[in-house]
Amino acid sequence: MIGLFDRLSLPLLRALDAEDAHALAVKALRFMPLPRRAADPRELGVRAFGLNFPNPLGIAAGFDKNAQVPDALLRLGFGFVEVGTVTPRPQAGNPRPRLFRLETDEAVINRLGFNNDGRAAVLARLAARANLTGIVGVNIGANRDLNDRTADYVRLVEAFAAVAGYFTVNVSSPNTPGLRDLQQAEALDDLLARVMEARDRVLPQAGPTPVLLKIAPDLSLADLDDVVGIARKRRLDGMIVGNTTLARPPSLREAVRAKQTGGLSGAPLFPLATRMLAETYVRVEGVFPLIGVGGIDSGPAALAKFRAGASLVQLYSSLVFRGLGLIAEIKQSLLAALDRDGLDSLIELIGVDAAAVTAEPWPA
Ligand SMILES: Cc1cc2nc3c(=O)[nH]c(=O)nc-3n(C[C@H](O)[C@H](O)[C@H](O)COP(=O)(O)O)c2cc1C
Repeated sequence: MIGLFDRLSLPLLRALDAEDAHALAVKALRFMPLPRRAADPRELGVRAFGLNFPNPLGIAAGFDKNAQVPDALLRLGFGFVEVGTVTPRPQAGNPRPRLFRLETDEAVINRLGFNNDGRAAVLARLAARANLTGIVGVNIGANRDLNDRTADYVRLVEAFAAVAGYFTVNVSSPNTPGLRDLQQAEALDDLLARVMEARDRVLPQAGPTPVLLKIAPDLSLADLDDVVGIARKRRLDGMIVGNTTLARPPSLREAVRAKQTGGLSGAPLFPLATRMLAETYVRVEGVFPLIGVGGIDSGPAALAKFRAGASLVQLYSSLVFRGLGLIAEIKQSLLAALDRDGLDSLIELIGVDAAAVTAEPWPA
């Protein structure tokens, strides 16, 4: 059924403007009757941040910004869903067009700028599904106008703790001016101290909601030293590596579209994101798990993320080019890899290539 859906829908969606196609895909997921979710094989299960993930493949933030279809995404076979980025107040984002497909590169550039329905609307949707199973993380960010940005994150932690499977503190979107400055040591330390304080304050009512930090793949290694040091000091539960890149790898073939302002994602991001994942892994020294994201478009690409240091992975852009069939394909491929090596679980593969990856020449 998924194969048929892909064959019918992909050509149609790709004939549309990228943002219209996304809106249509979300609408289809809201109304499409989906079969019950099939159980995942035990070998694909991962325990991380105190949560049991039925499989390690999640959908990255940005697809379901407003928590309209988390349960449809879980039914499609994702092991977890990250909704958001959500900001305290609703926000229109940047003027359109602001989302571009680079077809021949299987890449996307976006400068959406945190368009979202805001805390109250997203909270109502998540509260309505609170009794359902399935891990739904909430990615949080600050409104664009210059208020106390840290206070925005604190407010969101307090509001969502009871319904969020985990939080992602997003300080790495390139499309909100100044947001990435929160990755600088002093600002980050203050932000994470206050976020963790807020999480602990609401813990008696909400339970222990894990907090992860999502970083940009564009950090220098000196900045990464600081960021990992602060994440460890503030006892975060994990990190996500990473967001879209402002870089434009020389391999890009769609030279004109590549000039669009915004964050690049998809296949051309894979080398940089995987390198940064391995660099993060060696600095974290096993203190907390990592989610690897950026350019995963196949089973082998997902496997490479585990070997570089990921305990879980996420994807977004490749769905646009490969369709929903990719979800089952990646899970099958991971199972086959375990079988081939006679392994019982993915845990045995996490980080085995990290040292080798960090010794390679820096990806262009
Ligand atoms: C259209 C679009 C919107 C996105 N919006 C968000 C967002 O709101 N918050 C966030 O943390 N990441 C966002 N991302 C980044 C993705 O979560 C992911 O980190 C990045 O796209 C790399 O993964 P990929 O190559 O599999 O797409 C967005 C990506 C795309 C393509």
